[in-house]
Amino acid sequence: METTLVLVKPGGVSRRLNGEILRRIEARGLDIVGLKLLNPSREIVEEHYAEHRGKGFFDDVVNYLCSGSIVAVAVRGTNAVKAIRAMMGATNPLEATPGTVRGDFALTIDDNLTHSSSDPEAAERELALWFPEGLV
Ligand code: CDP
Ligand code: MG
Repeated sequence: METTLVLVKPGGVSRRLNGEILRRIEARGLDIVGLKLLNPSREIVEEHYAEHRGKGFFDDVVNYLCSGSIVAVAVRGTNAVKAIRAMMGATNPLEATPGTVRGDFALTIDDNLTHSSSDPEAAERELALWFPEGLV
């Protein structure tokens, strides 16, 4: 069993894609074990994207995550990390396969709708950051 983090970014929330994304996660057979809507602080978003600090897109992606409400989802299941990454699709939606969230609903990398943890270590770090109170 693995637990991973999905964030529905502000573009996904404003386009009312929360239900669609949660539906796909559950239809795949994965369990939602943490769920909240929040307006994140700049501090938590900068910590979340710490690996990208100094890169050209860092300020833009931090501003984007802080531009509206997001939904944080903790997802548990067998091979959940890889399964969720595959379901969300490639970072650049133009390279994301149809049938993935990004391949079906996004067009540009700066508005690619979701975040998902890249590996189990990242998942553990990110879940502690977004769900410090713990999971169900
Ligand atoms: O989200 P993912 O793990 O697929 O990609 P990443 O390489 O960890 O980048 C984090 C986020 O930064 C992406 O999801 C994009 O929102 C943003 N980004 C961007 O706007 N332009 C890039 N060239 C690379 C990433
Ligand atoms: Mg990443």
